Amino acid sequence: MLILLALVSAWIALAQELSFAEFHKNNLRNSLSVAEQSASNLLRHFNGTRVPGSKESKEMQDFIKKYFRDVLNNDWSVETDSFEENGFNFTNLVFTPMHGESYLVIAAHYDTKIDPPGFIGAMDSGASCAVLLYVAKFIDHILTVDKDLLEPLLLGSQVGLKIVFFDGEEAINQWGPYDSIYGSKHLARKWEKLGILNSIDLFVLMDLLGSKEQQPVHSYYRSSHRHYAALSQIEDWIGGTQTKWLDPAERKYVQLNDPIIDDDHRPFYEAGVSILHLIPFPFPATWHTLDDDFDNLDEGSIQKWALMMSQFVLDFLRY
Ligand SMILES: *[C@@H]1O[C@H](CO)[C@@H](O)[C@H](O)[C@H]1NC(C)=O
Ligand SMILES: *[C@@H]1O[C@H](CO)[C@@H](O)[C@H](O)[C@H]1NC(C)=O
Ligand SMILES: [Zn+2]
Repeated sequence: MLILLALVSAWIALAQELSFAEFHKNNLRNSLSVAEQSASNLLRHFNGTRVPGSKESKEMQDFIKKYFRDVLNNDWSVETDSFEENGFNFTNLVFTPMHGESYLVIAAHYDTKIDPPGFIGAMDSGASCAVLLYVAKFIDHILTVDKDLLEPLLLGSQVGLKIVFFDGEEAINQWGPYDSIYGSKHLARKWEKLGILNSIDLFVLMDLLGSKEQQPVHSYYRSSHRHYAALSQIEDWIGGTQTKWLDPAERKYVQLNDPIIDDDHRPFYEAGVSILHLIPFPFPATWHTLDDDFDNLDEGSIQKWALMMSQFVLDFLRY
């Protein structure tokens, strides 16, 4: 019986994937291009600085809010988490298309480092933010054409979704516990008070993805290893010419089960939330240099992350 159910689920997932192939065919390339100047290209908006509190940061926030409000069709409620710290204004943005008894959270940071001047953070984390915008468009499409698909298929309660754009991940002067991840520390404290933290099933953080230099993305936490394995299976399914990024058989880091890479997940991890940290290690060589620009992005990789995350989120909400 279990085997049969698993087979049926796999078959449904496959059929579903095929039925959305049309969506990806119509949207993937023009939404995530390193060269296109067209209005539909989400990635091109990240080809500039986004220092906390700056005019450019405000323009980015306005672009993201306008996208969820005007480009998408469904009601994505927005939570704006603004605060002042260390002489800077920070703003996290959170979008929720559907509530649930618990939540899947997917996140990336949109701010850029102050130093070196002109640093645009193409992979850190512009590309990940563009992927989140694409996943939002995908979920919005499903909500428009087949809302029931996001109801739990088997017994279980409704899982909601939250998409987070963090501000202030980067240090202002020098990275340390008191000078970094301003936005995620603030949002975690806020959500703790609101009782949202203990309703998070999984917190997925994307960072340093989309670079030309391909490095493995390891499994870092035992509590999320099965989700890492599921994402790896999606990567297999998508195929393509690139070498695989994910390898559930490699246990080097998951055995440590320790936050060895400091990032926006830390305040959530410390509060007991299960974390899937999608970050390559070692970091690509362009990390924190002016070479972290569009010339060093790989649009094929970014598009593959968008496909993987779209399917991952759909499966997570359904099963
Ligand atoms: C990104 O910015 C660079 C430098 O300003 C420019 O040469 C390039 O055309 C831009 N690319 C896109 C896709 O906007
Ligand atoms: C932060 O924003 C508030 C309201 O716009 C403004 O009054 C204040 O000067 C800003 N603080 C900094 C450090 O820019
Ligand atoms: Zn960084």
